[in-house]
Amino acid sequence: MTAAVHSTRAPRTLPDAPSTPRATHPGSLLGVADLLSGPQSAHGAQTDRIAHILDRAAFLESENPLERAHRLAKRKIALLFYESSTRTRTSFELAAKALGADTTLVSSLSSSIEKGESLKDTGLTLRALGAEAIILRHPNSGAPWLLEEVTGLPVLNAGDGMHEHPSQALLDLLTILACLRPGVTSVSSETLAGVTVTITGDILHSRVARSNMLLLPALGASVRLCGPEPLLPAVASEIGPGIHLERNFDRALVGSQIVMMLRIQAERLAGLQLDLDEYKRDYQLTAERLAAHAPDAHLLHPGPIIRGLELTAEVADGPHSRILDQVRNGVAIRMALVERALTASPASTHASPGGAR
Ligand code: NCD
Repeated sequence: MTAAVHSTRAPRTLPDAPSTPRATHPGSLLGVADLLSGPQSAHGAQTDRIAHILDRAAFLESENPLERAHRLAKRKIALLFYESSTRTRTSFELAAKALGADTTLVSSLSSSIEKGESLKDTGLTLRALGAEAIILRHPNSGAPWLLEEVTGLPVLNAGDGMHEHPSQALLDLLTILACLRPGVTSVSSETLAGVTVTITGDILHSRVARSNMLLLPALGASVRLCGPEPLLPAVASEIGPGIHLERNFDRALVGSQIVMMLRIQAERLAGLQLDLDEYKRDYQLTAERLAAHAPDAHLLHPGPIIRGLELTAEVADGPHSRILDQVRNGVAIRMALVERALTASPASTHASPGGAR
């Protein structure tokens, strides 16, 4: 099959692969590397932190809401959003409130950010106002690391540019486990052995894809990437182990237990011209495609979904779809992350020796 998308630009490379430094504060979650144990945790398994977060998410979700609301009563959390968001913002906010915390939302369109205030000054202002943790979404890759450094507060990365979205990868993992490993209460590097997850669409611009590509193979899954060259440069398979490219969507679907569809990120295309009819012909998930090539697969999508483009409405609402389960799981995972942010002690820092900044 020939490439289905015409580009007016030279092929691009992915943003730097993560030799990403780890968070300094043990309550922070800046990238998937923070979840995977470094040399200082040599006694534990690589996946211990992930197992602990999944465990707390399950516990907090099932806890009596009245008792749960005492856990972080009156603690202060700021949500700092420089990009629009529905699911991530709302679920972080509901998660923090479910634990009793007070939250405040600062968004770029209704704050002094609009007047040109820097991320540093905004972070210091929030800290002076009593914020004990900051949840940040920002269009620039790396912004959460800067914010953590200047404030010293735990920071949760709610999506930084084209880089990472670690809480989304965790809620995707929780959803995958519920589909394929029901009843499994702990995870290891073997938990997803034999599982193939196909991610299809605009992988180049997707922080969700990147975080999943780093997280899922650590649990044994094989990740198949699918999409046209302008949205999926061949170098993507070099991000880490367990990642393979298959540009033919029908072939990619065969043997996949999980199919994760991604939106074309129009706001980040920067002049790239796509022939949408060809794109739909080659990469749209339809009921016919699923029936022919992956009749038992579960469909994931981080949202927002664009019905009629990367998938049909029939598929979005159909029996394969786990999209709303992902949304629900987001609140549970984010309760665990918010609790971790405010209860992890800075003394037990897990920064790797070379990672301290
Ligand atoms: C994604 C994001 O913002 O990275 N959505 C999300 O957080 N659930 C994906 C997207 O914008 O397409």
